[in-house]
Amino acid sequence: MDNDSVILKVIGIKKAFGATQALKGVNLDVFDNEVHAVVGSNGAGKSTLMKILAGIYPPDEGRVICGGEDIAGLSPHELQRRGIQVVHQALNIVPSLSVLENILIARPPVKSGFLNWKAGMKRAEETLEFMDFRMNLGMIAGNLSVSEQQFVILARAIVNETRILVLDEPTARLSMEETNKLFSVIGRMKSAGATVLYISHRMEEIYKITDRISVFRDGVCVKTEYTDRFSENELVGAMLGKKMEVFFPKKDIPIGGELLRVSGLKYGDKLSGVEFHVNHGEIVSLVGAVGSGVTEVLNCVYGVANADGGEMFLDGQKFSLSHTPAEAISLGIALIPEDRVSEGMIGDYDVKNNLSSVDMDKISSFSVLSAGAEENLARGLVDRLSVVPADINYSMSALSGGNQQKVAIGKWMTRPYRLYLMNEVTAGVDIGAKAEIYKLMGDMAGAGSALILATGDIEEALGVSDRIIVLFQGRILKELSPKETTKDALLTRIMGGAQEWLTTRN
Ligand SMILES: Nc1ncnc2c1ncn2[C@@H]1O[C@H](COP(=O)(O)OP(=O)(O)O)[C@@H](O)[C@H]1O
Ligand SMILES: [Mg+2]
Repeated sequence: MDNDSVILKVIGIKKAFGATQALKGVNLDVFDNEVHAVVGSNGAGKSTLMKILAGIYPPDEGRVICGGEDIAGLSPHELQRRGIQVVHQALNIVPSLSVLENILIARPPVKSGFLNWKAGMKRAEETLEFMDFRMNLGMIAGNLSVSEQQFVILARAIVNETRILVLDEPTARLSMEETNKLFSVIGRMKSAGATVLYISHRMEEIYKITDRISVFRDGVCVKTEYTDRFSENELVGAMLGKKMEVFFPKKDIPIGGELLRVSGLKYGDKLSGVEFHVNHGEIVSLVGAVGSGVTEVLNCVYGVANADGGEMFLDGQKFSLSHTPAEAISLGIALIPEDRVSEGMIGDYDVKNNLSSVDMDKISSFSVLSAGAEENLARGLVDRLSVVPADINYSMSALSGGNQQKVAIGKWMTRPYRLYLMNEVTAGVDIGAKAEIYKLMGDMAGAGSALILATGDIEEALGVSDRIIVLFQGRILKELSPKETTKDALLTRIMGGAQEWLTTRN
């Protein structure tokens, strides 16, 4: 079938970075004029393959056949001349140059040895028009918003003849509206005859815009299937190399006695009398819209914020509302924050130092860990957390987001805590790392700890928790059992909290 002719054939591509074998022999067929998704957990090798397609690295082994020739190892310029345009994950805008210069940078319009800016301007204008994107070509790119910069880079990729457009996680920085705009551009590129390789870990996007999906796992392409024949369960299964049931591993862990009780908690105008409890072995999700007070509850329990009214008990023992985080830690309360970059980790340190940082700083100041003990501890955790690469000396800032988050959680696993407070710990984390984090949560509960999750991810709340507590304007609106509620019902509670609150009050 003409439609299924192969425009790009990747054969046995291998690529190592030092001891890390990023690609272990990738085979992939891309059909002419399709939108082809590439998915896979962080570290699976997607970006590395795309950089090889862009000519940024040569492969160690293997071939890439396009138009009857092996194009692997050609220069970026030669690949662009063949119509292969790659928009990389990192935003490589030149901030000091204008929009026009940024668009034309890859192949400036040269005529008899001179730059022909007039022709270039016309081409850039036509490209922006094709994208339905208004922008002043004279603006300095550094002054644009991040999403505008993303569109300028897209314009750069399609301003020249584009046969194969590769987009590496292009929506990470885009709003919903901008994402839809990008999808229209992808649709128009396809209508114009181009082929699009689309890397993303957002399920809805993949199912919305792609014809086929390839799944990368651990440096190889494990499966390629037509999108409409590939269920989400099978997709996640292929990504993780296991069945979907393990995705939410909260087993029937026996729920013990009461661990934390919060009663009449007040905090400024943010919390007005919050009451709840959590038991040993239990996972409770706190959900609510912005301003509901979810984060404040975690902060008050941990001591980052001090409540101005109410009482808190841990294993039946009352503790002070004005405690500090250090006191919380010594009581066995851990907080895993949302923003791992600024709060949860030390980017310049390696994985090992990050994993031991809680013990080092806050607990064992009088019994400093020996270097050997630190290494052993870190090795055990890296293994348990399946950090990729499994290298305790790797710099934290070089890890992918999902792996950083695993380390940020792992540093609280050097000893058992009674209570884990987790604030949006899976936000921005790929699905593979998510599954591993859920498994860790299950392990923590299984060991008798209690977990309180603040989460905006409804599926996560329904999947991992024993109970869901909905907050609205600083009060508890409703407690729900995940087994007896649906996604829609929960969402309605969170969003339509106002109405319900009024009716329950009257
Ligand atoms: N320039 C590099 N130097 C060292 N290791 C790298 C480099 N680029 C990627 N890696 C490693 O190669 C593996 C694959 O990374 P990558 O291709 O970025 O994965 P993905 O895009 O699927 O998240 C990871 O273990 C990553 O840490
Ligand atoms: Mg990547």
